[in-house]
Amino acid sequence: MKITVVGAGHVGATAALRASDRELANEVILVDILEGIPQGKGLDMWEAAPVQRTDSRVIGANGYDATAGSSIVVITAGLARKPGMSRADLLAKNASIIAGITEKVAEKSPNAVIIMVTNPLDVMAYVAHKKSGFPANRVIGMAGVLDSARFRSFIALELNVSVRDVSAMVLGGHGDSMVPLPRFCTVSGIPITELIEQETIDRLVERTRKGGIEIVNYLKTGSAYYAPATSAIEMAEAIIRDQKRILPCAAYLQGEYGIDGLFVGVPVKLGKDGVEEIIELKLTDEELKALHASAEIVKRNCEKCDI
Ligand code: APR
Repeated sequence: MKITVVGAGHVGATAALRASDRELANEVILVDILEGIPQGKGLDMWEAAPVQRTDSRVIGANGYDATAGSSIVVITAGLARKPGMSRADLLAKNASIIAGITEKVAEKSPNAVIIMVTNPLDVMAYVAHKKSGFPANRVIGMAGVLDSARFRSFIALELNVSVRDVSAMVLGGHGDSMVPLPRFCTVSGIPITELIEQETIDRLVERTRKGGIEIVNYLKTGSAYYAPATSAIEMAEAIIRDQKRILPCAAYLQGEYGIDGLFVGVPVKLGKDGVEEIIELKLTDEELKALHASAEIVKRNCEKCDI
């Protein structure tokens, strides 16, 4: 079993460490264009393995030979957001980086599932889908798991309850237009609408929508990485262990929810084949309108990508 993480920056290095901590694969290959960085970080992680008592070997590389035959490739390479920069500003730059990486990944690991983390990730997933030639079930964007995790963490804080008991569902594109669905959010099965006043729910929804920029404003020189990396590895684990988890992910829609030819965040079943099922919720008119508005933004950004 082999997992590759492309990009050994904040998100990629954290993802590699999480993957090795969970022993998801015998080998975790960490790739970056910067010479020495993936090798140094990989060796440092491997040196932590005896203490952590894990046998996943992390190996750094500047090329793709060592990645051959990976089951999963998590792509985090590219530029991160700086204050004042929207995810869409990253578009052109990251699209060309992702196009180049995907071609090499597809050549070395033709049966892999690609998990896209580089932003704007719904658009980058689209680029990877086109460039890899992989079927739709084997290219997935990481967004919903992160956005739902943020919503869950805020609900748990508000109610002073364990995050373990909180589940949440956030659909749509990964950006200000995302669609948190409070009526599908529960605390141990109890809808949050019965536990929290509407005004407070609205505040938590807004904080979730702005969750990324809240971190960017603190960090000033980059964007979030612990939660994004952990979310990507949660998806990798569901696939590698064939867990059939139901998680919100950016999946390629072909008519579901009235959306065609785009990666948009919806609940999916994740197992060994990647996206094994797209779950179509019965949305209210208002929710569907918000999802379509979000998809429209993803569509416009995809059209701007010259691939
Ligand atoms: N091939 C491999 N690695 C690359 C390439 C490439 N063509 N181009 C850039 N990289 C590497 C950089 O050298 C850097 O080490 O990608 C890494 C990006 O790391 P950071 O700058 O630390 O960015 P990070 O915070 O990890 O975010 C990466 O994830 O969540 C998203 O919005 C975020 O798009 C951003 C991505």
